[in-house]
Amino acid sequence: MAALDAVSVITGKRDGGELSDAQIDWVVDGFTRGIVADEQMSALAMAILWRGMTRRETARWTAAMIASGSRLDFTDLPRPTVDKHSTGGVGDKITLPLAPLVAACGAAVPQLSGRGLGHTGGTLDKLESIPGWRADVSVARMREILADPAIGAVVCAAGADLAPADKRLYALRDVTGTVESIPLIASSIMSKKIAEGTAALVLDVKVGSGAFMKTVDGARDLATAMVELGRDAGVKTVALLTAMDTPLGRTAGNALEVAESIEVLAGGGPADVVELTLTLAREMVAQAGLNIDPADVLADGRAMDHWRAMIQAQGGDPDAPLPTARHTEILRAESTGILTRLDAMSVGLATWHLGAGRTRQGENVQAGAGIEMHAKPGDPVQAGQPLLTLHTDTPEAFPTALTALEDALTINPTTEPNPAALILARID
Ligand code: URA
Repeated sequence: MAALDAVSVITGKRDGGELSDAQIDWVVDGFTRGIVADEQMSALAMAILWRGMTRRETARWTAAMIASGSRLDFTDLPRPTVDKHSTGGVGDKITLPLAPLVAACGAAVPQLSGRGLGHTGGTLDKLESIPGWRADVSVARMREILADPAIGAVVCAAGADLAPADKRLYALRDVTGTVESIPLIASSIMSKKIAEGTAALVLDVKVGSGAFMKTVDGARDLATAMVELGRDAGVKTVALLTAMDTPLGRTAGNALEVAESIEVLAGGGPADVVELTLTLAREMVAQAGLNIDPADVLADGRAMDHWRAMIQAQGGDPDAPLPTARHTEILRAESTGILTRLDAMSVGLATWHLGAGRTRQGENVQAGAGIEMHAKPGDPVQAGQPLLTLHTDTPEAFPTALTALEDALTINPTTEPNPAALILARID
């Protein structure tokens, strides 16, 4: 076989060719070891963005990224493993009630999560607002927690050795305008999920203004690519497309979202959060081969018991008061009518400006910062009533946050309430 070199791999893809398995293995491995330079990988990512990759190329690329690090194996656990991945949205706190709920149904839920960057929050940032809770858990401890029938769920940070090629490539894509390639997004997400060792996976692919994918067609293509990658790697995978034009629930921000998740576990909480939690839980339980209705497990308090055990297993105090921000500001309705629009992206950006998110990796986030939503689309509102409460420790952030919210809300004096669908499609 001829010696491989980065320039011929780049030009081959630039000119519309298919990369061979050997070329993909070589370039991903070379990039991980520093033999293929960042500028060469950036050029290849741009060529892939324009030319695409076939199903075979995408599967091989994913396998090469998994092989760049270690792969966890939970096949010896006494319970079936199943995980969920969301492509990210505003107010998307679903992992918090979902992981303990599915564990209470009898599955083991190994959920390796990330921190937030930009307008969508990170699950780890949310859980870190619980006093004492820690995101770093060794693989040995993960295994103990997953095997324990009283806990069964772990939400923790991925170790540095999980798909390290993806970590480096994602950082490059972020600064070279090459994030929006379906084969690259699909392989990035699925390499981490497959390496995490779950036997089954439910994907929540968000669609709308506050999501990565703005159209149903784009989200369907991404979901299909990820379902195919999962199946090809032996992970039972199904995807739901769910709406993200409006934030989920009535809070966005770290401690605010934890409090709302606890309401759901206690049997209350906003209807959309409950609906999505139960829909995803039913999919996960079915993928795990269990015959139980998660609604019963939520209603009788078993999910709450697993939440408390899960938080305690990672050093957290489930009874400690959650942090609150020092300053609040209220945004009021300018007219009377029906609230017809509450734009997810604007709420996400305002939440970020208030201090709940970060602009650079490694920055601290404020636990108490965020936005409470007192009305959601479809609700009647009166002029002057509070619509949003903004929370922050840094009141100088209020003007920027309020600017981000300027065109976020529409109140229509005549429209009848017309609730939008939350679950848009299922892909398996
Ligand atoms: N999330 C990821 O992990 N990777 C991507 O490429 C996009 C979103």
